[in-house]
Amino acid sequence: MIERETLRREFERRYGRPARLFRAPGRVNLIGEHTDYNGGFVLPMAIDRETVAAAAPREDRTVRVFSLDLDEEATFDLDRPGRPRRGLWLDYVEGVARALESRGVPLLGADLMLLSDVPAGAGLSSSAALEISTGLALVSVSGRTIDPVELALAGQQAEHTYVGTLSGIMDQFVAALGREGHALLIDCRALKAEAIPLDTERVVVAITDTHVHHELSSSEYNLRRAECEQGVALLGEHLPGIEQLRDVSVEDFERHAERLPETVRRRCRHVVHEMARTLAATDALRRGDLEEMGRLMRRSHESLRDDYEVSCAELDLLAETAWGVEGVLGSRMTGGGFGGSTVSLVRRERLGEFERTLTEEYHKQKGFAPTVYVSEAGGGAREVSGDE
Ligand code: GLA
Repeated sequence: MIERETLRREFERRYGRPARLFRAPGRVNLIGEHTDYNGGFVLPMAIDRETVAAAAPREDRTVRVFSLDLDEEATFDLDRPGRPRRGLWLDYVEGVARALESRGVPLLGADLMLLSDVPAGAGLSSSAALEISTGLALVSVSGRTIDPVELALAGQQAEHTYVGTLSGIMDQFVAALGREGHALLIDCRALKAEAIPLDTERVVVAITDTHVHHELSSSEYNLRRAECEQGVALLGEHLPGIEQLRDVSVEDFERHAERLPETVRRRCRHVVHEMARTLAATDALRRGDLEEMGRLMRRSHESLRDDYEVSCAELDLLAETAWGVEGVLGSRMTGGGFGGSTVSLVRRERLGEFERTLTEEYHKQKGFAPTVYVSEAGGGAREVSGDE
């Protein structure tokens, strides 16, 4: 957890007045990958790492942001849009501010200071934690309130317009609405979620960061999305009325699959089956059948590797090594892919062996070690009270 006192003190020192604090978590997705932008289901949980934004309003329309992690300040003017897609961390902050105003939430200028322990590039959505914490901070110090789903949509809009990734709603949704001790089954079309209890007493959620992040992840992401849309257009000739892959059942898909060009067929096969796996995994969790949940996670990884082609050698190495460790119920890549992390369900008493085996094997093949984090399911975005 971020040291709140440090942030309060540094803010006062730099800006000469006290701040209010707002936090939003990173996330790990247990299953349901690349289904969100197809209107489908996902099952992420918020992790216990967070970004905290300290904020106080200003009298003008300037937003000044200081990142304590990077020791860097940036400024923008709410009345004069900066150029989008500069590849800067400011894109996320300015993007969410503009998205909020364009969605009818007028903002005051503000001084902001940021501190985060969500590792960047690890596939744990440090970007959504940044968008949602700063978005909530800007809205709140402007004397307004916002529905958390609307806040999530503003974060997603920032990705689309300012960052340039046509992402789905999963990351921002769980950053805004995560619930302690629970995963969220999100229906990404209805924008509704059900909290699913996650008992981590005997089995823990272990995140393993490959420490690699391959170029192209954003362009490949947008390409996958386009391939899914192409699949919907082609399947629509035989399944009238479908709007997204969400509308295609496994049976309908299998009946018409051979009409699709090979690549599009494999992409759609992943998505349609992954949606079914996500619902089956949720049922398994509800029944406490973690073995079944683990099997589905493994199938999800294989499908992302072979059909969706968003895994990479490093993710495969970690997942495949984990499958061979006793006490590992399941393991898969998590998030967009092309680097980042895997997520594994591991029996608590086997955690030491899990960490040792993955570290040794990865180090042997890559020459450096991965990082293993164990996380409880944390809560979503909120204001941090004065005595925390
Ligand atoms: C990224 C995106 C999400 C989602 C995942 C893949 O994290 O931001 O919207 O599409 O990839 O499941």
